[in-house]
Amino acid sequence: MRAVARSSQTLPGSRGARHTQNQTPTQKKMHDTCPFNPFVERIRIQEKIDAGEKTSALLSSLGDCKRKTPPLARTIIISTLKNQKKPVPEAFIEGIPKAELHIHIEGSLEPELMFELARRNGLRLPFTSVDEVREAYEFADLQSFLQLYYQGVRVLVNERDFYDLTCAYLKKARSQNIRYSEMFFDPQAHTGRGIAFDTVISGIHHAMLDAKQRLGISSKLVMCFLRDLSEESAIATLQQALPFKDWIVAVGLDSSEVGHPPEKFTKVFDKAREEGFLTVAHAGEEGPPEYVWQALDRLKVSRIDHGVRCIEDPDLTARLAADGIPLTVCPLSNVKLRVFESVEQHNLKQLLDHGLCVTINSDDPAYFGGYLTENFLAVQKALRLGRHDIYCLVRNSFQAAFLSLDEKQTFLDELDNYISQNEDK
Ligand code: ADE
Ligand code: ZN
Repeated sequence: MRAVARSSQTLPGSRGARHTQNQTPTQKKMHDTCPFNPFVERIRIQEKIDAGEKTSALLSSLGDCKRKTPPLARTIIISTLKNQKKPVPEAFIEGIPKAELHIHIEGSLEPELMFELARRNGLRLPFTSVDEVREAYEFADLQSFLQLYYQGVRVLVNERDFYDLTCAYLKKARSQNIRYSEMFFDPQAHTGRGIAFDTVISGIHHAMLDAKQRLGISSKLVMCFLRDLSEESAIATLQQALPFKDWIVAVGLDSSEVGHPPEKFTKVFDKAREEGFLTVAHAGEEGPPEYVWQALDRLKVSRIDHGVRCIEDPDLTARLAADGIPLTVCPLSNVKLRVFESVEQHNLKQLLDHGLCVTINSDDPAYFGGYLTENFLAVQKALRLGRHDIYCLVRNSFQAAFLSLDEKQTFLDELDNYISQNEDK
């Protein structure tokens, strides 16, 4: 089951005392006589919320029926959050356990590390200082960003460089309470420069293992094909990846979108699925809704990366909502690349109001002025999101992750514990 965040979500049976009065005789009977019935239980809890009781008291009162169930606890927490009209402190967003599903590891290359790796590898950069690099990060569109992005990756040469890059991102991610991250990598951006596939993936993979052990952050890897290159090149890349199959959970599609429709990669995605990879694709970032249709119907993706332009096509929006296809939305990226003029103009709330499973992500944090927490802070402020919205967005990310049901449940329980322990902050 997928969670869908809606800014004005109504929970079944959560309308409070009014509801109790309108109960049918059967419902009334259930209300009066334990054992446990979730419908009745929600009404009972809502009455207590309406009377001003705190989440912690509510959680312990669950014991009344001697049956505690995680879905019920969650329902109660959501109900409580909906009733909180308090402002959302930054500390609440900083501390909430998060997942990230759309981060290009090469896009986490900070200028400081870029200079360090250039020095280590005896390479000259077309910049004289870190400040000069940051000043160059003004983009007119996706293409103008990609030019700098591909220039930046040239400092990544040896396995240790990929290891250091990945360690730096995962350390930063952990400091923002990201508990789980799915990272994209672009092998063709390296193999095209003569770097072996093995060098790239080994460096990234060993950093992931070390980060899990030392920092407790879990991560998985998604291999992207560059859509401005040929499908033959993508097929050759898939071939190179097969010996490392266990290290890659999914394949994706990125780089310059307009003029490179997903259908161009139908064969390679078919092969990837036959080999057991899950599939995702960037679509509807700059490209039209038609590209999102193609990603769904031709590439059979489980998630759409970005997808914000889906809103231009009501049938597509309805399809994404009906099928519970998550969107990995990247608000600061969208503003930096001029998809939206400002965060205030972002369509995140509309997407939520259409019942879409929206998640928040950083895309290329070193280039776009913020990691995951900064993205959450920006949308919370600009779109005046409440605690309930933040909770649902975070919850969607764990639900949409390529994790087993048990793994998801462990993270979701951690999330709910955080919520119940931070209600007064
Ligand atoms: N590669 C890195 N960042 C990207 C983005 N935002 N869109 C497409 N390809 C990318
Ligand atoms: Zn991206």
